[in-house]
Amino acid sequence: MTVKEAIAARRSIRKYRERDTPIPQEHLDLLLEAAMRAPSACDTRPWSLIVVQSREKLDALADAHPHGKMVRDCPAAIVIAALPQVQSGLSDGFFPQDCAAAAQNILLQAAELGLGTCWCGVYPKEETMKNIRETLGGALAPGAIPFNLIAIGHPAEDFGSRGSYDKKRALYL
Ligand SMILES: Cc1cc2nc3c(=O)[nH]c(=O)nc-3n(C[C@H](O)[C@H](O)[C@H](O)COP(=O)(O)O)c2cc1C
Repeated sequence: MTVKEAIAARRSIRKYRERDTPIPQEHLDLLLEAAMRAPSACDTRPWSLIVVQSREKLDALADAHPHGKMVRDCPAAIVIAALPQVQSGLSDGFFPQDCAAAAQNILLQAAELGLGTCWCGVYPKEETMKNIRETLGGALAPGAIPFNLIAIGHPAEDFGSRGSYDKKRALYL
């Protein structure tokens, strides 16, 4: 699959099958590698990636997120935890962009693997951040901010690509 094809294939999947069939470790490794190869301001990589596979934790995360119920039907989820404290000076404050780039890399790699994903936004919603923080407890490093919750599973729906290339939304100078 080309990058172009992965971009077209990626959709937010909210229905999953076989929640008890684990994501193979080699696929998890590819997802994490994709995230960690994302660009980041001054190469600071202000993230920690928390892979959740415990059924109890997955269900608790689904309950903790107001729009993340699909995690209940997934064998895995990745929480990207932002580490704003590793950035200062030139890189200071760029962590949301860095974490978003890492998240998108995960989604595109998952599309190539035929896995379904759904990006559930956490930061900057204070209430959701608090709920996810409480659910993850000590897994979050001090100062870490839960940035998003990415549902990962075996898709039970297929929408095909969406959106279109709207040439009017680009400005050439
Ligand atoms: C920052 C952000 C937050 C999102 N939060 C949620 C969410 O909490 N729950 C959800 O089901 N989808 C969430 N989505 C997915 C969007 O709803 C989805 O990307 C959008 O509707 C376009 O559909 P597509 O991803 O299938 O192309 C989020 C996406 C982004 C980028």
